[in-house]
Amino acid sequence: MKLLVTGGAGFIGSNFIRYILNKYPDYKIVNLDLLTYAGNLENLKDIEKNPQYRFVKGDIADKDLANDLVKDIDVVVNFAAESHVDRSILDSAAFIHTNIVGTHNLLEAAKNNGGKRFHHVSTDEVFGHLGPNDPAFTEKTSFAPRSPYSASKAAADHLTMAYFHTHNLPVTISNCSNNYGPFQFPEKLHGLFITNLLEGKKVPVYGDGMQVRDWLFVEDHCEAIDTIVHKGKIGETYCVGGNSEKPNIEITEKILELLGKGEEMIEYVKDRPGHDRRYAIDFSKIKTELGWEPRTNFDEGMKKTVEWYKNNEDWWRKIKSGEYLEYYNKQYQK
Ligand code: NAD
Ligand code: TYD
Repeated sequence: MKLLVTGGAGFIGSNFIRYILNKYPDYKIVNLDLLTYAGNLENLKDIEKNPQYRFVKGDIADKDLANDLVKDIDVVVNFAAESHVDRSILDSAAFIHTNIVGTHNLLEAAKNNGGKRFHHVSTDEVFGHLGPNDPAFTEKTSFAPRSPYSASKAAADHLTMAYFHTHNLPVTISNCSNNYGPFQFPEKLHGLFITNLLEGKKVPVYGDGMQVRDWLFVEDHCEAIDTIVHKGKIGETYCVGGNSEKPNIEITEKILELLGKGEEMIEYVKDRPGHDRRYAIDFSKIKTELGWEPRTNFDEGMKKTVEWYKNNEDWWRKIKSGEYLEYYNKQYQK
């Protein structure tokens, strides 16, 4: 099988490429990534010489490029996105370009090349947020996004389903909860808090720290996507979750404990505007129909994640200093 993975130089995409090449050594992967601030080829250093793997620097919204690449592959797995809610609050233009225009362009390329299999990677944030006693999100929950990020992802999900209904494009979608694990950019909760503490800095908890997310270890998400790509029913959406609802303050305390730091390292800061209170996923459908469920429990995943950042200081220090952008940007400059 030949896969076009978009956004493969980011957090989840790079974990997915490593996972697929380990599990299916005969598969071929083309990684199309624009190398924005979040794309880092250091995430794939161990893979770059693998003959089954090819990197192409480019924009998923580039019509000719998408058409050329899609022509020659069997499946598109679309991870490429602007993914950080806080950035979408400051400036959402790139979110509209990549998440909506870019996804539309890939759908067109898939349609115009004989109807290629298309898996779109999405988020539980399209469903909006929950009160403390509301039932978890399912595939039947209506969309009610509340940030420019989640609104742009919701638009892409709708377009993906529209290409199934209108053009018979063989699509699937996964709506997954928050991921954590190796190679997560140090602007998101885990990456930022762990690296701040390793640098002796405090951690900024927004508001009262009682916002709840359903945390999933990244490898489990990769396995879920692999399962859907191989066994998923065309035209279906699958909710993917970690069975691990935790308030941010509990994540913070766990990180403090694993790094032997005290509560004095917590700094409560101004809340995020429109901060979603709670996300939770009911993943019964993928469990019953496709046999997937998360393997990594919270304690194990947190331990692995903290260890990874402790052992890969060079990786995150280069990001925090901005140095990581220089080498590859020079190499791939047009
Ligand atoms: P990320 O920000 O770490 O990586 C995104 C990647 O996309 C980067 O490598 C970036 O260079 C690339 N990219 C951005 N714009 C591009 C463009 N126009 N053309 C080509 N490449 C482009 O994101 P992530 O956390 O790995 O998330 C990957 C996907 O999973 C996203 O679609 C996101 O919405 C979804 N998702 C993420 C989470 C999470 O917790 N991180 C949870 C559920 C779903
Ligand atoms: P984040 O990793 O940005 O994911 P998302 O907003 O997509 O869920 O944030 C996870 C939670 O952590 C969210 O409730 C916001 C909170 N948070 C903080 O309290 N402080 C921070 O510095 C960051 C980045 C996030």
